Amino acid sequence: MISLGIETSCDDTSVGIVKEGTKVLACVTQSSEKFHKKFGGIVPEIAHRKHLEFIDKVLIKALEEAKLSLKQIDLICVTSEPGLVGSLLIGINFAKALSFSLKKPLILVNHLYAHLYPVFFRKIKPTFPFIGLVASGGHTNLFLVENFDKIYNIGKTRDDAVGEAFDKVAKILGLGFPGGPLIDKFSKNVKKTPFKFPYAKLEDSLDFSFSGIKTAVFYKIKELKNLTTQVKRLIAAGFQKSVIENLVYKCKLALKRYNIKTLVVGGGVAANSLLRKELNLLKKDNIKVHLAPLKYCTDNGANTAGLGYKIFSLKCLAY
Ligand code: KG4
Ligand code: ZN
Repeated sequence: MISLGIETSCDDTSVGIVKEGTKVLACVTQSSEKFHKKFGGIVPEIAHRKHLEFIDKVLIKALEEAKLSLKQIDLICVTSEPGLVGSLLIGINFAKALSFSLKKPLILVNHLYAHLYPVFFRKIKPTFPFIGLVASGGHTNLFLVENFDKIYNIGKTRDDAVGEAFDKVAKILGLGFPGGPLIDKFSKNVKKTPFKFPYAKLEDSLDFSFSGIKTAVFYKIKELKNLTTQVKRLIAAGFQKSVIENLVYKCKLALKRYNIKTLVVGGGVAANSLLRKELNLLKKDNIKVHLAPLKYCTDNGANTAGLGYKIFSLKCLAY
């Protein structure tokens, strides 16, 4: 079965084509990122209009890449929530029109769950149950995952998302947008930093909080005034270290609390090199760590197509 996934929850217009939920035949993404740059964050109205402009071209490119025609698609999948309402509407209506005209089933896919899916594109796949961490620009959530249709939220951010914190700190440091990859690259060769920004542990809760650390960086920069590039680099490294420690700490807590030995991580921030390094160290404690392949960490239609196929298969089994 060939599934087609449409993703328009934020600023990426993406179409993925996947065979049997595991083989990605095509994944084409056009971002409207450059149109938001001067605002230092995503402007929903711009994102929404760009999806409308890009979506049919992205679909045609994806079909070309997969060497398929629309008639060969068996299932249409689309991100239905959460996301920017105007942006979601473009994808959902486009998918509905495709499903109606091709007479193919339509599956609605939760965007956060889809961020956990790309590990299933790898040869070695995780087994259920697992703890899933979704760390993205809009969300930071921990999930207990028992199956593709049995996913329970066990922790979330109480304020900013972790990617949002990266983006805001990069803006304060004058690095640009989106901030995550810029901070990652900027602080790459820093071995030690005198700048320490403690994170909120929130006692034994599996929730996160990132707004305090962003404010701490802001006041530190205000206090130091004329910053050299090297000092900025050390501050960025101190911020990144603390945020990553926070994510790893909560993952460990969740694994222990639910007595689970498998961890799956996805979302844009899962591309962070320090996070990947630190999480891989958990393997020493017999934890099976499955990180999303780099190219499927950020928003894309392949994740949507893959998870949509699994949901459809489970629905078919239920009848
Ligand atoms: O998953 P995603 O594409 O969009 C949402 O669903 O929100 O994630 C985008 C976020 C942005 O905040 C971006 O700064 C962050 O992922 N990001 C990173 C890295 N690459 C992308 N954050 C830290 N390190 C990275 N290497
Ligand atoms: Zn996302």
